[in-house]
Amino acid sequence: METLKHYDSLTTTLQHRRERLAQLIDFPVILWSGLRSSRNYPDNVFPFRASSHFLYFAGLPLENAAICLNQGKLELFMDEDSPASALWHGEMPKREEIAQTIGADAAFTLSELPSRAKGAATVAVQNATTCLQQAQILDRPVAPADVCTGIDQELVKAIASLRLCHDTGALSMLRQAAVVTVEAHKAGMKATPTAKVEAAVRGAMEGVIIAHNMTCAYSSIVTVHGEVLHNEQYHHPLQPGDLLLADVGAETVAGWAADITRTWPVTGKFSTTQRDLYDVVLAAHDACIDKIRPGIEYRDLHLLAASVIAQGLVDLGILRGQVSDLVEMDAHALFFPHGVGHLLGLDVHDMEDFGDLAGYEEGRVRSDRFGLSYLRLNRPLKAGMLVTIEPGFYQVPAILNDPSLRSKYQEVVDWERLTQFADVRGIRIEDDVLVTEEGSDVLTAALPTDADTVEQLVMTVA
Ligand code: GLY
Ligand code: MN
Ligand code: MN
Repeated sequence: METLKHYDSLTTTLQHRRERLAQLIDFPVILWSGLRSSRNYPDNVFPFRASSHFLYFAGLPLENAAICLNQGKLELFMDEDSPASALWHGEMPKREEIAQTIGADAAFTLSELPSRAKGAATVAVQNATTCLQQAQILDRPVAPADVCTGIDQELVKAIASLRLCHDTGALSMLRQAAVVTVEAHKAGMKATPTAKVEAAVRGAMEGVIIAHNMTCAYSSIVTVHGEVLHNEQYHHPLQPGDLLLADVGAETVAGWAADITRTWPVTGKFSTTQRDLYDVVLAAHDACIDKIRPGIEYRDLHLLAASVIAQGLVDLGILRGQVSDLVEMDAHALFFPHGVGHLLGLDVHDMEDFGDLAGYEEGRVRSDRFGLSYLRLNRPLKAGMLVTIEPGFYQVPAILNDPSLRSKYQEVVDWERLTQFADVRGIRIEDDVLVTEEGSDVLTAALPTDADTVEQLVMTVA
């Protein structure tokens, strides 16, 4: 953990969060931070990532700690390092010092935690060992957050309502993650002309994130096979004519994330067909961002992106028919099969451990429509929400060669014309947009999206 001096302004933010929680629920809450998972043997561990709900109320990435929140009060439970741990990992701040930094009312060893268990609600953490401890200490089963019931479910709803709209403390962190992510993408563009394989560009991008003492908020996607939506392979050579899709985001030490995608030509020059499709995706991206303001339905933004993409594909001769009919029959989803974005915060898909409880307004459920089933957010937008806008165009063999889809959309796709766009496998353009009282603020706007400037960014640095 960083020196505690970095967290000077934390206390007020955390105090405010727990007071707001206390206005929503009247039972005690215990939140666990979790443990590291081992790789192959206990002393070699994966990097530690504290539970996001713990981070929201405790602010610091403390390992193997718990907090009890009750009527606006905060108690911290953690053990201090053994001398052996200090030998290998260095001295950690003392429990009292940490308690002071986060504004805790009291601090105890973990052995005291069971005394607070009676009637307490919790959120299951992802780490299985910690999850077992949760059940042992609370002396009851603890179900995963997306299917929990009773007071745990009440807690989940309360936390979701707080975390949906970001406070100033969160926004300051989210802006820091966005700034570093923009720099990482510029470094990726700069590295591309001399890179031989995707991994070299990934290294340049993640290098910026690491150099700012941040980590990646999710597994980076840096690929010439953008049609594999969450591609995690980096070995492909970069060849003239390829588009490179980079979806890379930084996460601050306290866990706040950014999530940007850009797609650029490896030579620094789009082909005509690549630019045509790039401009279709960009038109969808811009149209959605233009519409963002409080009260707008996120689902309508998704459908707007679908319409703009369908219109663009009609104009290019790839789709045939009326745009409204094409969207209604999900023809756009052949090429844009995912939702237009999601909530962003402490998790890149914020609060997705709650299933759709955070992303979907109460009473709404996922559609089973081909063009809507991957929509992760279906709520009216409110000031303080941070969402991604990330339309795309992909030629996914598993979709385009599927016999039933092929036959369903036989008449509305000009399959012959489509073959002329074979040099586009995947394009996505993704920005992080804060909903404000007046409209929106694109936190990642410093990274250009227009094709000319993207070309210049790749070429001028070659
Ligand atoms: N980076 C994952 C996503 O954009 O959803
Ligand atoms: Mn995203
Ligand atoms: Mn992304």
